[in-house]
Amino acid sequence: MSIAIVSPGKDPKPWLEALRQVDSSLDIQVYPQIEDLEKVEMALVWQHPPGFLRNFPHLKLISSLGAGVDHILSDFEIPHHLPIVRIVDEKLTWSMTNYVLMGVLNFHRQLYRYQKDKDNGIWDMSNPEISIKVGIMGVGALGGDVVDKLMYLGFEVCGYGLNDKKSLSFPYFAKHQLDDFLSDINVLVCMLPLTSETEGILNITLFQKCNPGTYLINVARGKHLIEEDLIPAFEEGYLSGAMLDVFRVEPLPRTHAYWSDSRIQLTPHIASVTNPKAAAPQIVENYKRLTNGLPLQHQINRVKEY
Ligand code: OXD
Repeated sequence: MSIAIVSPGKDPKPWLEALRQVDSSLDIQVYPQIEDLEKVEMALVWQHPPGFLRNFPHLKLISSLGAGVDHILSDFEIPHHLPIVRIVDEKLTWSMTNYVLMGVLNFHRQLYRYQKDKDNGIWDMSNPEISIKVGIMGVGALGGDVVDKLMYLGFEVCGYGLNDKKSLSFPYFAKHQLDDFLSDINVLVCMLPLTSETEGILNITLFQKCNPGTYLINVARGKHLIEEDLIPAFEEGYLSGAMLDVFRVEPLPRTHAYWSDSRIQLTPHIASVTNPKAAAPQIVENYKRLTNGLPLQHQINRVKEY
């Protein structure tokens, strides 16, 4: 029995080391040097070449090396019966929450205005805070933590998601209540999983329904946003700015209009980077569960796509 790491999108070495530290007896093969395809029962993947997993005739489990699984589900050659698990980890959640808090607070306390004022030698004490109400799209493990921390800091927050949810400690709008959700907030944070239903959800039609001057934070996936709709949404006043960590093409091409637009803050997909040391124990745990026929942790629903 063996585990294969197939991660052209992430350096496999820290993963190999972290997994060996948890269990030195593990037999791990690393792409592209996988010699014994027959032995592989679990594949740890990040942006694997589509179709490649078909080379493992005895594959029983696929694990993402991150929180997202869209990179796995976009490979239509993966048989439907194969279970897929993802990483859910406190450190990942902590970093993601801190990133979103940074974006929310920078908007609320107008960091970018004061940076400009400093450059221009302006001392302007008027209106030092923008009143905000934050809407989180996607209130799962990551989004739910952002809601909790924002509420702890005393901000008004509400959630939006594709499913009905009951007994939440905050106002929540389900699928068909998108317009009500948008009219209630002026900071919009996208933390949705990328699925066929959510791809392109951040588009000009949605922005038109936002309160004028809404601030957008996207930490989910680049494909949630119709990129060419963002600058028109600024021009029309639907949005006042955006903080983006994810893009349709990464690295963001040097010629992309976002680089030079002062209304956009951008970071290179670093909002929350999975830490191999923190994630390795749950990968090994799932491998043991697989071997012993026990229920897996953090298994995704193939129909819901997350
Ligand atoms: C993830 C990511 O899904 O890094 O973990 O985007």
